[in-house]
Amino acid sequence: MTVMKGALPSVIEAIGSTPIVQLQNVSKGVHADIYAKCEHMNPGGSVKDRIGPNIIQTAEREGLLKPGGTIIEATSGNTGLGLAMVAALRGYKCIFVMADKQSEEKRNALRAAGAEVVICPTNVEPEDPRSYYSVANRLAEETPNSFYASQYYNPANPEAHYVGTGPEIWEQCGEEMDALVLSIGTGGTVSGISKYLKERRPEIQIIGVDPIGSIYHDLFYTGEMPPAHSYFVEVIGEDFLPGTIDMKSMDDVVQVTDQECFTMARRLNREEGLFVGGSSGAAVAGALKYAEKFAHKFEGRRPNIVTIMCDNHNRYLSKIFNDAWMTENGFDL
Ligand SMILES: Cc1ncc(COP(=O)(O)O)c(C=O)c1O
Repeated sequence: MTVMKGALPSVIEAIGSTPIVQLQNVSKGVHADIYAKCEHMNPGGSVKDRIGPNIIQTAEREGLLKPGGTIIEATSGNTGLGLAMVAALRGYKCIFVMADKQSEEKRNALRAAGAEVVICPTNVEPEDPRSYYSVANRLAEETPNSFYASQYYNPANPEAHYVGTGPEIWEQCGEEMDALVLSIGTGGTVSGISKYLKERRPEIQIIGVDPIGSIYHDLFYTGEMPPAHSYFVEVIGEDFLPGTIDMKSMDDVVQVTDQECFTMARRLNREEGLFVGGSSGAAVAGALKYAEKFAHKFEGRRPNIVTIMCDNHNRYLSKIFNDAWMTENGFDL
């Protein structure tokens, strides 16, 4: 098929090449220039669009995904959309398993993209047969001609950021960038980007942002697995150690509260015109904390700190951006 000049062959080729913008207001008074890489501007609305094509192409190449097959995944929503986008074009079915803490908007978005959605309880151990990890595993075993995308263990997840997002950030920022601050879930984004950037310039500081209740902060500092407890912010932090995270990819891990994530997400929308969700709020709140704590590392000059805006706000309109929901759950507006 020929493609008209100036057009792309499909929406898949529209993934990536996202802009980096300087924050104007929320960083006032901080001794650093903070930038935002707008991954929420990807066609599926999140950084997870990056991994969909790589996971599917790798599985096709390895013979794990065959024509007419079904893609199964445990997802907090965004990976599901990234996979569904590619599946739509290649004729695969999708079954996505989600925890009930994820917003109604995300479930509906996945259904709109043609997927079957299975909802599981959030507050059970990962090994519990009712957990969304266990249910996804069982469905993958039971469903004929299926492929379990397994973003928590699939090396095609961090690899997508090593070959895509990392080089793109380097091209946009190069030597001028001092630090990258980003929230972590599967760790695919931080591990892939860090590997690429550190190969180019080992001094670039890579800082993970972890919600209080998740394991990464304490694991980073003590080397031991701490107990996890629940928190509100969606899609970041974990209660187990995924195979996709390289803990050594990070120079530090900063902790943030739910309130800090939500307040900053609301401020990014209202004061920066960045229509992003809670994990982007986490990244910027973490970047401001990092800038304050480590200003001395940069010998008096203003460091350039890049953060990643992970997804679009429309997935959280009934929650973070709903004053009644915020108040009912004990958060300040
Ligand atoms: C909105 C959002 N932010 C951050 C992350 C964390 O990215 P990663 O899983 O690559 O660590 C995710 C992952 O699902 C996400 O959907």
